[in-house]
Amino acid sequence: MIRKKVKEILQNPQPGSEVLVKGWVRTKRGSKNVNFITLNDGSTIHNLQIVANVETFGEEFLKDINTSTSLAVTGQLVESQGSGQQVELIAQTIHLYGKSDPDKYPIQPKKHSLEFLRENAHLRFRTNTFSAVFRIRHAMAFAIHDYFNRKGFCYLHTPIITASDAEGAGQMFRVTTLDAQKPPLTEAGHVDFSADFFSRPTNLTVSGQLEGELGATALGEIYTFGPTFRAENSNTTRHLAEFWMIEPEMAFYDLKDNMDLAEDFLKSLIRYALENCYDDLKFLSSRLKEEEKGKPQDQQSMELIEKLKFVVENDFVRLSYTEAIDILKNSNHYKKKKFQFPVEWGVDLQSEHERYLVEKHFKKPVILIGYPKEIKAFYMKLNEDGKTVAAMDVLFPQIGEIIGGSQREENYDKLVARMNEMHIPVDEMWWYLDTRRFGTVPHSGFGLGFERFILFVTGMGNIRDVIAFPRTPGNAEF
Ligand code: 4AD
Ligand code: MG
Repeated sequence: MIRKKVKEILQNPQPGSEVLVKGWVRTKRGSKNVNFITLNDGSTIHNLQIVANVETFGEEFLKDINTSTSLAVTGQLVESQGSGQQVELIAQTIHLYGKSDPDKYPIQPKKHSLEFLRENAHLRFRTNTFSAVFRIRHAMAFAIHDYFNRKGFCYLHTPIITASDAEGAGQMFRVTTLDAQKPPLTEAGHVDFSADFFSRPTNLTVSGQLEGELGATALGEIYTFGPTFRAENSNTTRHLAEFWMIEPEMAFYDLKDNMDLAEDFLKSLIRYALENCYDDLKFLSSRLKEEEKGKPQDQQSMELIEKLKFVVENDFVRLSYTEAIDILKNSNHYKKKKFQFPVEWGVDLQSEHERYLVEKHFKKPVILIGYPKEIKAFYMKLNEDGKTVAAMDVLFPQIGEIIGGSQREENYDKLVARMNEMHIPVDEMWWYLDTRRFGTVPHSGFGLGFERFILFVTGMGNIRDVIAFPRTPGNAEF
């Protein structure tokens, strides 16, 4: 018999047909004559109800079927008597792959806290919440490749091990094969990295951008989509030490083209989720509603699907950093000293400021441009005022910064001057500077934090819950 996925069966229910299904038991309840087993195979948030006759299978055999037992079941689909599903499966044969001790299995068929599930991250995929999150994450990864493919972008695999610090922020994980106890030393007593595997100090990359620029200035439009690593000691609900980033880089794009692409890209991905992940979104929406029940009305977020539609249907607000500082300074929130961090032209905006602009002031996603050069990376194009750069950050409700990007400085002399000012090693970056020496062009790009985006789409509150195996300070168990 041909195996069918539960999703297929429920999408196109055919009472009378014979099927084979395989999966894991979610619940079992029984009466004297029949047992009702709900089976999930990961293909959908929904379960298939299996009806097993006690006389046919025997009490002894059915006793071993518990939550998380793995089964193969054949039988006939019939119209369901109960509500909740159109069809159920009358079991003819049941093969039990693996038993599960119901007293020891940590994921009981009841509501567990997300904290508890994080401690059992190896099994949390078996819950409705996490299976929904990871199906959506998969769909979004697919939609990203599809989007760029349709637009003629080339997927470029930039290196994970690198000798350069793209953002110039220095929060990198060292990669070395030197003996940690007794590393070779130079005459001056420093670690001698010329004896290391790559004959130089190397790290895990914080961004594929610089290598991406090499690709874009030949292939036209490229994107990267890979893991990036930051050794910053940020223990927040929005930071990971290992996260995935999507970085498109486009020759001949100015900042406006860059903003247009970012907005279209985000909207197109969300539209894809609405069209292809509806069941999972619906489930996550009810989960969120449940979670926020106790909160006062004004702290409850917009219903998840409404919120996604809202973002697709409305233009993002675009304004300058300088205008944003004015808005913040004139706000009642500021006057009542409710911001924890200072608001002053020149300081970096904190998540609380970003969220105020998006959630309280504009009530829409915001693209901020024209940041002071001092708080941004060396490669951003200097504006004519000599004070600000052609940076753009896209700010989202509940998240704050979801995208960071810019038009790049294409002028060799200006770029070298910025690098010197910011103590970026010009010699080591000769290969990057060559793009500006040989046929330089205006170009732009941005980086979308994949997990931050998945947070937004799923309505989850903690970034550790939208990546399969979170890496944060002190945590790398699974
Ligand atoms: O703003 P960032 O640092 O920009 C860059 O890395 C540029 N090279 C991108 C480019 O222009 N090609 O990071 C981009 C995005 C942020 O907006 C945020 O969404 C995400 O990456 N991000 C993180 N996500 C999770 N954990 C962290 N520690 C993150 N740091 C940045
Ligand atoms: Mg940034």
